[in-house]
Amino acid sequence: MSATSAAPSAQPAFDGDSVVKVTDLVAGYIPGVNILNGCSIEARKGELIGIIGPNGAGKSTLLKAMFGLVKVHSGSVVVRGQDITGLKANKLVSKGVGFVPQNNNVFAALTIEENLQMGMFQRPKDFAKRFDFVSELFPELAKRRAQRAGSLSGGERQMVAMGRALMMDPAVLLLDEPSAGLSPVKQDETFLRVHEINRAGVSVIMVEQNARRCLQICDRAYVLDQGKDAYTGTGRELMKDPKVIQLYLGTLADTVE
Ligand SMILES: Nc1ncnc2c1ncn2[C@@H]1O[C@H](COP(=O)(O)OP(=O)(O)O)[C@@H](O)[C@H]1O
Ligand SMILES: [Mg+2]
Repeated sequence: MSATSAAPSAQPAFDGDSVVKVTDLVAGYIPGVNILNGCSIEARKGELIGIIGPNGAGKSTLLKAMFGLVKVHSGSVVVRGQDITGLKANKLVSKGVGFVPQNNNVFAALTIEENLQMGMFQRPKDFAKRFDFVSELFPELAKRRAQRAGSLSGGERQMVAMGRALMMDPAVLLLDEPSAGLSPVKQDETFLRVHEINRAGVSVIMVEQNARRCLQICDRAYVLDQGKDAYTGTGRELMKDPKVIQLYLGTLADTVE
């Protein structure tokens, strides 16, 4: 910003298209040890946002801090104009935030239908309506609703976990490495489903280890490094950015156009 530009107002007006805005987030697990060091990201209405970066960069910590599962020391998380920093996970669900963690994201002993009901514990009356919405995105879940989640494959469990988060009609869905541990074919299917969820009107913030596929389908992405957003741009811009290629994408340089 140039020195002659007008001073910003102290309280910027809420921008109606902003679904989630994370500003200068500092957070960590142990007092005095910050894992996020001033991280800022934003998802706007209808956007599919990718988060990539090396192992240990703080990607999972960012999602957990946004979802009230890691202590926030400073900075803010604003959802649809409302400051939700530090609220607990159960409150966040009713504020429009859905979260699918990377591991242990289904109740193995429960059926698919019971898993989806668990997603609706705050609004049991809306079950039928939301079940219809989720069934359109994941018809196989409806067909196999009586099957126990513990008997499903990794890809199918991922769909149950996403379905459960969608039951509460979130404005934004936070996904932590939805393709991890899946075969290439199942990874493709998962990315397709994420794309469909996004097209159905849900903003998505997706952390992915499969950086190339993530950049191909997202609208915009952030590269996280050492707890900070190091680079941002459209998926295509980042795929072509020499610094990003050199640091994070390695041989991907050969595969772009
Ligand atoms: N539960 C935890 N307690 C303490 N430190 C943790 C915990 N989970 C992750 N960390 C540390 O936080 C840092 C970032 O981890 P993480 O957010 O999982 O990275 P990423 O998802 O980008 O691979 C790592 O140094 C990791 O050791
Ligand atoms: Mg992680």
